[in-house]
Amino acid sequence: MRWSVLSLALSGITTNVLAINLFENTAIVRTIEPAGALVHVTTTYAVKVLVENANSYIFALSEDEASKTSKMHVSLKGQSVQLGIKEHGVQDGIARYTTYLPEGMAINATTNVVVERVLTRAARPWPTQASQEEDQFMKYDGELFVLSPYPTNTQRTKVRAPSSRIARYNTPEDVSFQTDSIVTKSGATITYGPFTSIPISANAGFISKHQRPISVQYHYEHAVVEVNNLVRTAEISHWGANLNVENNLVLHNGGPELKGHFSRVKHQMQMYMGQLRSHVLPAVSLNLPPGARDAYFVDLNGNVSTSRFRPVPSVPKSQSARQSSYLELRPRFPLMGGWNYSHTVGWDQPLADVAAYDPTNGTYIVAVPLLTPIATSVVNDLTFKVIMPEGATDVEVFAPYKPLSVEHSTHISYLDTVGRPAVTLEYKYLTDSHTDSVYVKYKLPVVSHFQKPRAVASAFFVLFSLVFVTRRMDFSIRKA
Ligand SMILES: *[C@@H]1O[C@H](CO)[C@@H](O)[C@H](O)[C@H]1NC(C)=O
Ligand SMILES: *[C@@H]1O[C@H](CO)[C@@H](O)[C@H](O)[C@H]1NC(C)=O
Ligand SMILES: *[C@@H]1O[C@H](CO)[C@@H](O)[C@H](O)[C@H]1NC(C)=O
Ligand SMILES: *[C@@H]1O[C@H](CO)[C@@H](O)[C@H](O)[C@H]1NC(C)=O
Repeated sequence: MRWSVLSLALSGITTNVLAINLFENTAIVRTIEPAGALVHVTTTYAVKVLVENANSYIFALSEDEASKTSKMHVSLKGQSVQLGIKEHGVQDGIARYTTYLPEGMAINATTNVVVERVLTRAARPWPTQASQEEDQFMKYDGELFVLSPYPTNTQRTKVRAPSSRIARYNTPEDVSFQTDSIVTKSGATITYGPFTSIPISANAGFISKHQRPISVQYHYEHAVVEVNNLVRTAEISHWGANLNVENNLVLHNGGPELKGHFSRVKHQMQMYMGQLRSHVLPAVSLNLPPGARDAYFVDLNGNVSTSRFRPVPSVPKSQSARQSSYLELRPRFPLMGGWNYSHTVGWDQPLADVAAYDPTNGTYIVAVPLLTPIATSVVNDLTFKVIMPEGATDVEVFAPYKPLSVEHSTHISYLDTVGRPAVTLEYKYLTDSHTDSVYVKYKLPVVSHFQKPRAVASAFFVLFSLVFVTRRMDFSIRKA
């Protein structure tokens, strides 16, 4: 019985007449926090159970919202444990997801499901151009109603801008389910709704009849940082007991394009007066792992010496690092809106800090973070490559987020005889929170000319191995 209800809901033909609802939403509150390259959205569904033991709760997004969603986390309010998510794909312009509530809920029991999402490409500079003296404004465009396969008693959407300098917000016209004001402004927050007694809305009919656009244009006080074409290569060397991480990228200022010519005199003056506009990006900083050393920063003209590196020593794997090494990258010229800066940044770190070893059969596991993020940035395309030592066999890889592609290859450099196995992962639209590690596992024959990394502790092997066992299945239930 439950299956038939579910499949009706999924086929998108559910109407009020046909539906035997498992749930109703007593309230939906969505809070949108637009910023620069990333927009955070938290939707809280106050859910009432209508059928005993119902626990497969479905939530929905428009196709557009789903395609902009880069990261998603579902939990019960006040709890940090992530609930499982199953994606059903897009049908009739609607993406549906099932999440699993605790079992055994009685009729009329209530719970709060919190869906947190990070969006990319949801805000853009508006106006699209600004001169060196003008301020930077961004515009967020979204949708008025949260879609749901269940009826909803009340619903509101809050757009919480990063400052109270809100230049403009729209008032949707011809709005249904309205009982009070359509939109109100209070400080930095624009509230749409409350709207009441909303029927099942996750269907094309509701969208074409009732859905309305919303938009808010706000002042943004930080640079809009984007990373294009990041190629990140991690090279494992047992010979040198070293991990080299090199990032080749184009840094892009995603703010309004510079109107007119760049004046260095004006720029110096604004710097001096502390009046630099926020669409100017003078430098970015990176948190490197403890133990990082020999950091380098090279652009098309060679070494860039105007950077600062403050390393902190390695910490034992049994302790969590409290401090990071710090690298500030200051390009040769300030990056104005729309400008690109192509460069390479890399460092070495002790292999022992990231590797675990099983001496009984010569198996290694090495963990490398997918990204070393620049705060608030989007990474538009990432090619992540791990190169293992020459002679490594039985290569396995665990990716923390579902990649677009995985490719195994052989990397040959001039000293190699047979080449080194490599694994390449491709991604698009990652955020500054996609920092979990990629794990690679391989065997290395005990040939004398390989120096085993001293101090690679076997104690952590079991811990590292668990990732392969427990987290590999995550792809089916967890999105990014
Ligand atoms: C659930 O709530 C409704 C409305 O408040 C009530 O009529 C119904 O009897 C309740 N059902 C149970 C099983 O408590
Ligand atoms: C760049 O700097 C590194 C060390 O920081 C140095 O070894 C290298 O020779 C420099 N290269 C050039 C071209 O100056
Ligand atoms: C920066 O790079 C993007 C994408 O690679 C390109 O579309 C744009 O024209 C570049 N901007 C400038 C000022 O060259
Ligand atoms: C040997 O290698 C495998 C991976 O290939 C690993 O899972 C296992 O724990 C290792 N140790 C033993 C004693 O088999």
